[in-house]
Formats: sequence, C-alpha cells, structure tokens
Amino acid sequence: MKTENQKNDIIPTAKPIKVQLSQTESYQALLSGNREWVDARLKEDPNYFKELSKGQSPEVLWIGCSDSRVPANQVTNTKPGEIFVHRNIANVCNHSDMNMLSVLDYAVNVLKVKHVIVAGHYNCGGVAAALSNKQYGLIDNWLRHIKDVYRLHSHELDRITDKETKINRLVELNVVEQAYNLCKTTIIQNAWKERQDLEVHGWIVDINTGLVKDLKVSNHDSQNLGYVYEMELEAMAAHI
Ligand code: CO
Repeated sequence: MKTENQKNDIIPTAKPIKVQLSQTESYQALLSGNREWVDARLKEDPNYFKELSKGQSPEVLWIGCSDSRVPANQVTNTKPGEIFVHRNIANVCNHSDMNMLSVLDYAVNVLKVKHVIVAGHYNCGGVAAALSNKQYGLIDNWLRHIKDVYRLHSHELDRITDKETKINRLVELNVVEQAYNLCKTTIIQNAWKERQDLEVHGWIVDINTGLVKDLKVSNHDSQNLGYVYEMELEAMAAHI
C-alpha cells in the first residue's frame, strides 16, 4: 500500500528502504520499481517515453557526489531530460580526469548548458575520510585532492575543534575549490569568450533538511581567475 507521499513522487521509491530484503528480493524490487515507474508515467502521458526518446536539451550540468542520498533530479524536483549529470566521490573536479572533462566538454559545447553546478553535501563520507589519516585503499589517491583543499585552507580549518563542524566546513571549501577548478579549464574559459550565458555555481545539499544552500560563488566570466590560470584564448585560436 502506497502512502500519499509515494503516490506524489515524480519517481516513486522503488522499494521500502527500511525493510530488510533478501539479495534476490532487493534486486527484483528494482525491476518491479521500474515497471511501476513506467506505468505511472504512461498513465499521466501515453506519449511520455515517445517524447523523451526524441532527444535531450538540459540547461544544467550537475557535478555531484556519488552518495546515494543526493540524487540530482529528486533534490531539484526535476524530470528526466532536465539535468545532465556527472557524479564521483566528493564531487571532485580534477583537471586531469578525462571522464569529468569529457562530460563538461559535451555539456558546454554540444548541449550548451547555461548552468554548471558543483553540488556537495554536508556529512560527506568522502570528505570525512579525507580528514582522517586512515588508509582506505585506492580511494586514498582520489581523496588526496580534498587533502589539498585542506592544505589551502588549513589556517581556518585547524582552528575548528568540533569534528562535524570541521567536516562540513571542508565540504563547503571543497565545493568552492572544485567550482574554481572548473573555471580554470579551457572548456569554461573558451565558452565565456564565445557566449555570455554560462554560469558556474557552488551548492551544498543539507541532507539533514533536504534544502540546498547556494554558496554564492557563481562565476560568469574569466575575471578573478588569477594570472596563472587565465588563458590567452585569442593567441590559441590563431595557432589552430
Ligand atoms: Co559525499
């Protein structure tokens, strides 16, 4: 029996999360959840999937954490087709990550998105792990990017004694730095040279309330990047 809330969900919950299911049951619940979702969409609009299959023109690229509690569409109450998504542990935007750069390039230059949002979240396990000195395995190399953010802001972070406060402040500073990292890419800088309607934002999802906190670090041009990172775009074009 569905609750009123579940009935009103854009994408219904596939299974009751708190109930312990067997491995087979939890797998089957995904498939039956999919059928429920398809049925609900078709009931609303018999042409829903016909229209969806025609193509996508999302105006937003979301770069968020892989954490299962922060899905882009549900958090923003948007539908399939509205947000292009890239997620990794602790929403890192590293300039040598071909996966992230390919998504960014496609979103900016082909889809022509108007907003790129780096979305972190409070109580991020990746950020908490980066604050510790424990070894977790291969992921330690990924989390090194966040330790670098710590080093940049150690004067502030070293003074915070409460553990959760420190994690959540690093969550915020990490989003600011990753948004800044995006602005340093030639992908974003070239786009700003060619068009005016691209903005880079930094958000935090507070998973205690579900609400988004806009860190107001929006960037819409190459100003304030610093002379080290600002690229001579016209000179580059002349050599092509
Ligand atoms: Co996280």
